[in-house]
Amino acid sequence: MKSLKVGLLGLGTVGCGTLELLRNNAALITDRSGCQIQVIHASARNPNRPRAADTRNILLTDNPFEVVNNAEVDVVLELIGGSTIAFDLAAQAIKSGKPVITANKALIAERGAELFDLARAHNVPLLFEAAVAGSIPIIKALREGLAANRIEWLTGIINGTSNFILSEMGEKSRPFDAVLAEAQALGYAEADPTFDIEGIDAAHKLAILAAIAFGIPLQFERVYTEGISHITDRDITYAEGLGYRIKHLALAKQTPDGIEMRVHPTLLPVQQLLANVSGVMNAVEVKGDAAGPTLYCGAGAGAEATASAVVADLIDCSRLLDSSPTQRVADLGTRRDQAIPILPMGEIETAYYLRMQVDDRPGVLAEVARILAELGISIEAIQQKEPAPSEAEAEIILLTHRVRERAMEQALTEIEALASVHGPAIRIRLEHLDN
Ligand code: HSE
Repeated sequence: MKSLKVGLLGLGTVGCGTLELLRNNAALITDRSGCQIQVIHASARNPNRPRAADTRNILLTDNPFEVVNNAEVDVVLELIGGSTIAFDLAAQAIKSGKPVITANKALIAERGAELFDLARAHNVPLLFEAAVAGSIPIIKALREGLAANRIEWLTGIINGTSNFILSEMGEKSRPFDAVLAEAQALGYAEADPTFDIEGIDAAHKLAILAAIAFGIPLQFERVYTEGISHITDRDITYAEGLGYRIKHLALAKQTPDGIEMRVHPTLLPVQQLLANVSGVMNAVEVKGDAAGPTLYCGAGAGAEATASAVVADLIDCSRLLDSSPTQRVADLGTRRDQAIPILPMGEIETAYYLRMQVDDRPGVLAEVARILAELGISIEAIQQKEPAPSEAEAEIILLTHRVRERAMEQALTEIEALASVHGPAIRIRLEHLDN
């Protein structure tokens, strides 16, 4: 029987999950791949630390280059993260003719173009299913299952940590910091959790999904990115009262003028499927012109869930070793990139939730409404919260219809300049996700 000897870089949450999955399901993985997949050499910053996986039959080192350069290693599994050393290791492996499997979205989103070029030049596969949405085989679905479709849009919840935080805040009124600490303890969060809560991780993933969906180059730097750290209990509660749930949404859409790529907190109607995706779960909805909307849901982070995608790539890799490049699926799904402009945020259209502190006196609401009307912004709903006995200011909550973001920016500048409005207005985008 064929064998595939694996060099594993990184024995963190996903590395240990991968070892355990390979061990627990060894027989069926062999049956499905027709190959004995075996990790023979692994690196970790501290190889002797006790860990959640059995490493007894694996040669351990603190030098990842030793693993890459081990002549016995057939394929390199990069689970270190980041885009500096991980890049050097992946490049070194590829130059030695070894396929690379990675769960590293930063690496693919930021330096994927260089790595794919190198992989093509050396005729080796570079696989990255685990880089996006954990357990969900969304790369395979987009690149292969939906290959006949012109993709109109895709949207989803693609950061498990942020979804976990927003869900726990909304459902159990838990404080942000405590939930983030739990997400870190559960192994959901990135090494630097600001990547999760400031939307960078989701932007990495969206850049990859959009490249595959629309056949465009990877353009992480063009993704509009806003995190959840400014979302308060108050907005979560008010949104629920109005029939909406706040989710950290990633959205890429092809419009006649160009492509939108954006990641930001978003009010979704509670009856929307995506509004009901809670905890560490991820979900991606894709609209293809032939298939119509399709929905993919599953755990977006965690040891076993992510290992599921890593091991699927290992099984694919065992079949690809003796294939020619023309038999393989193109790295990002296409053999020819499209030159489609990315729309600046001022050009996108969305609805809005606005909350502002105002003087509690006649005419204030009329002033705000006049500014919105003059800029062609139509109000869908309005609420005024009476001030508490100890407070002088009232609170106005507005939902608007869809409008160009540029017009909303102008409106907010004018509204915040009113003497009767205090402090910056809170602005959260709102999507109905109508097909
Ligand atoms: N930190 C990531 C998340 C891990 O929370 O979704 C999976 O990519």
